[in-house]
Amino acid sequence: VTNTASGRSIVLVGMMGVGKSTIGKLLAGKLGLDFVDSDEQIEAAAGMPISEIFDRFGESGFRDGERRVIARLIGEGPKVIATGGGAFINDETRALIKEQCTSVWIDADLDVLVERVSRRNNRPLLVGRNPREVLTELAAKRTPCYSQADIHVRSDSGPHSRTVGQILEALA
Ligand code: S3P
Repeated sequence: VTNTASGRSIVLVGMMGVGKSTIGKLLAGKLGLDFVDSDEQIEAAAGMPISEIFDRFGESGFRDGERRVIARLIGEGPKVIATGGGAFINDETRALIKEQCTSVWIDADLDVLVERVSRRNNRPLLVGRNPREVLTELAAKRTPCYSQADIHVRSDSGPHSRTVGQILEALA
């Protein structure tokens, strides 16, 4: 059983810019669960923005913190958790999510991702680089991991509520 009746958290994974946080909030509302964003929780725990965590501790330091924060959030009880795009790529973090949660991969065409990240380009992995090139490279590397999620939905166009509807159907 992979639905919320089992008391599992629902963890949204997928590329940056795909809409995990927006969709997660809507989904949590529909399910009557709390919503949390792992990036926000990491910033709160570290007391600094993600860009500064990357600067001071490197990506691997960020990944360690990300895994610890996600483990804590899962342990707190069932909720909807939006993760940063790299969380499910880390073997330990992915194993943790796979064991204890229902994972949902939200996927979209590259054009959609490029458009969405361009609206708010504060991601350390994109700073000073061509977002299309980085996202193309990351998507190729990450798809084998994302495809291990329990549920796969697309969010290319149309309202986020439609993606939420697809997730609800898959959970039913
Ligand atoms: C990252 C995605 C970001 C954030 C960090 C690293 C990634 O989250 O965790 O900048 O590796 O894809 P979003 O997916 O919410 O942008």
